[in-house]
Amino acid sequence: MPDSFDVIIIGAGAAGMMCAIEAGKRGRRVWLIDHATKIAEKIRISGGGRCNFTNLHTRPQSYLSQNPHFCKSALKRYTPQDFITLIRKHGIAFHEKKLGQLFCDDSAKQIIAMLLIEVRAAGVKLETGVQVHTIATVAGGYQLQTSLGERSCASLVIATGGLSIPKIGASPFGYKVAEQFGLHIIPPRAALVPLVFDGALLARCQTLSGLSVEAEVRCGKQVFAEGLLFTHRGLSGPSILQISSYWQKGEPIVINLAPDTNVLAVLKAQKQSQPKLHINNVLAEIMPKRLAHSICEEQRCSGSLANLSDSRLTALANAVNIWHVMPVGTEGYRTAEVTRGGVDTRELSSQSMAASKQPGLFFIGEVVDVTGHLGGFNFQWAWSSGYAAGQYV
Ligand code: FDA
Repeated sequence: MPDSFDVIIIGAGAAGMMCAIEAGKRGRRVWLIDHATKIAEKIRISGGGRCNFTNLHTRPQSYLSQNPHFCKSALKRYTPQDFITLIRKHGIAFHEKKLGQLFCDDSAKQIIAMLLIEVRAAGVKLETGVQVHTIATVAGGYQLQTSLGERSCASLVIATGGLSIPKIGASPFGYKVAEQFGLHIIPPRAALVPLVFDGALLARCQTLSGLSVEAEVRCGKQVFAEGLLFTHRGLSGPSILQISSYWQKGEPIVINLAPDTNVLAVLKAQKQSQPKLHINNVLAEIMPKRLAHSICEEQRCSGSLANLSDSRLTALANAVNIWHVMPVGTEGYRTAEVTRGGVDTRELSSQSMAASKQPGLFFIGEVVDVTGHLGGFNFQWAWSSGYAAGQYV
């Protein structure tokens, strides 16, 4: 029957393509579909157009999930080295930028081209611009009503990703399918996303917009030490994106704007040795001038060190080393790199990604409640979970 497949995969992003390749290699008849006409858009725009396709230091601790153990099995069976082997096979040049983050030397489009070559070689039928209207269970599998007509399959894979960046195809489809089959969902929310502020703090961020520093950012027990960027809406940069995945509304964030310097010790020593120095200039030795001046102004510190009491210097130093800020929210799915939450991992097999209470239904990639840190971990989860399901569909 031409309209019947062994496997139908909905969502031709990173996870869906990897799953299709693996299932096709096993001789399964696979239909890989996407509602977008341009597929793998997230790969194309990722990593500033160079795709941070994996991270050499991938480990379970690099992921957030209600069940931190769930990702272990898939990550062990398809590792960053496995993806590197694939990249090398296709002659794609790459480099480590920092912290184990691997990027294409040239373009993210090379990754998409590579996946499409592998999809074709595995005999997968790929169609784009396809809408899935309904999904029903039938004897031995699933029947789908689609914009191309009725199709059936034994295994149905949901690889439709999260809610981030709706304008390039993100949809809540995967969560709706999970709900249809009675699977629990961990409430989704934007992650790896800039934080926004209001009032005086917003005004300061706007004044400093475009300025970046190395910072240590803390929320509860979680700490990230990477770049921080002031924006016209608040704060962004890698350290802020990372902490946003852990931040809950109403929680403060503590920022160290000079993580390598005990600012109070420096100020006190300078006051002793060079009391005539202007406070603005002393602080500007530690951090960018614009930021130093803004902090002095906000702390109402001016003039020479000699004129500033130790308590004023302490307040100023704290504004640098332990700056407490209270975000009012995030920029949301419009700019979030990923979506936290998703299909509850308790509903899925960590071996196969199959839903335990719904035979033949699989969930892979970002739609699952496994969210990586910034730095190539999310693509690695997409490859690993797609590979795992590909062995069982
Ligand atoms: P993905 O979102 O890739 O694919 C889902 C597919 O399903 C899409 O093609 C979509 O059109 C389709 N779909 C959705 N609804 C559908 C429906 N109803 N019917 C049919 N098809 C449907 N990660 C990383 O590791 N390194 C990086 O450098 C970056 N950079 C980055 C930049 C930006 C701007 C963003 C937004 C994200 C990143 N990420 C990243 C995150 C990474 O892109 C993401 O985690 C993976 O693409 C997730 O892969 P999936 O295959 O699960 O979903």
